[in-house]
Amino acid sequence: MTRLDLLAYPIVIDERVAAHVAAFVRERGRPRCIVLADRNVAARGAAIARALGRQTPVLDFALGERRKTLRTLEAVLGGLARTGADRATTLVGVGGGVAGDLFGFAAAVYMRGVAFINVATSLVAMVDAAIGGKTGVDLAAGKNLAGTFRDPVAVFCDLGALGTLPERYAREGLAELVKHGIIEGGDAFEALETLAPHPLHKWPWETVIAESMRVKAMYVNDDRLEVGAREVLNLGHTFGHAIERVSGYRISHGAAVSIGLRGAGLLALRSGRFSQAEHLRVLTLLTLLRLPLINPSSDIEGLLAAMAHDKKVRAGALRFVVPRTLGDVEYGVVATPRNVRAVLQRLHTPPGAAELR
Ligand SMILES: NC(=O)c1ccc[n+]([C@@H]2O[C@H](COP(=O)([O-])OP(=O)(O)OC[C@H]3O[C@@H](n4cnc5c(N)ncnc54)[C@H](O)[C@@H]3O)[C@@H](O)[C@H]2O)c1
Ligand SMILES: [Zn+2]
Repeated sequence: MTRLDLLAYPIVIDERVAAHVAAFVRERGRPRCIVLADRNVAARGAAIARALGRQTPVLDFALGERRKTLRTLEAVLGGLARTGADRATTLVGVGGGVAGDLFGFAAAVYMRGVAFINVATSLVAMVDAAIGGKTGVDLAAGKNLAGTFRDPVAVFCDLGALGTLPERYAREGLAELVKHGIIEGGDAFEALETLAPHPLHKWPWETVIAESMRVKAMYVNDDRLEVGAREVLNLGHTFGHAIERVSGYRISHGAAVSIGLRGAGLLALRSGRFSQAEHLRVLTLLTLLRLPLINPSSDIEGLLAAMAHDKKVRAGALRFVVPRTLGDVEYGVVATPRNVRAVLQRLHTPPGAAELR
């Protein structure tokens, strides 16, 4: 068991978390809980409800990105009202990033806000979504367009759940792990290089997740509302979001971020910030993790337009997060459209000798 006290709320990482959740609830002296679970991990939710005792209700919902909507939110809120949730009830949300965002949002607005415990069951949720306090749902106009900043009262990473997480969703989390590795550099990046050739079920997840959470927590702590330094966590995401969007979301977020990390490296190289040797280390790591480096779209103008939509554009200038070295990442770097176009063109082709020299 690992416990991290880096934020205003505890983070507990363990193979089984039901007993830890129950102990936390007892200590807080707010025994009335309702468990909300993603249907795919309903059994993990039921185990937590049993540990909580007192016939704790479990409400489960079919989720997934397509159901991260106001409609599902309404179903959750209706379920809470019918189950008799009141202001003193603590909601325990069990599932991946979608569950955390959606149940967290429900907790933020139900009766103007009730306490929320986030139990993360996917790699994306553990290394990224569960901490930082962002909650929300998608609108027809775009992803995560409605939501709040609201912290949970505790976060539990249910490592035992990773055993049933489909591999393609596990791979989604790897791109964010690499992102945190680049930001942190040093041993954190080297550890990923050492692990990358090994199958995922052999990885020491408790340590890997704790290290990755430490990186995110450090920035979240200093800049909760994302007005400054937290922007470094968007490394690879300005290119990534555009790639996702232009693909009509056929390219997954993790794959797009992987291509975006290559893009950030290329942009850094063009401005003399990064070394080719370190860029090569990043590309090698992504490749070992079977993450893509090439954007199938050659629609450069479409990609540029998608970036202009990105929230990180301020007053018309394209701003990027770029690495200076592994372990030193700069944000708010203004890039000329000419440089960005050149990078986008390179991203459509495999890394060539010039990029890897
Ligand atoms: N709030 C934030 O800061 C933040 C950060 C990153 C991502 N996100 C959000 O997270 C979401 C992506 O997260 P995700 O990849 O966890 O998606 P997800 O929650 O949809 O989970 C992926 C799939 O795996 C299933 N699943 C989850 N855990 C499982 C387990 N242990 N065993 C079997 N199946 C399991 C889910 O039912 C789903 O079908 C996106 O909506 C994204 O916007 C939020
Ligand atoms: Zn991301």
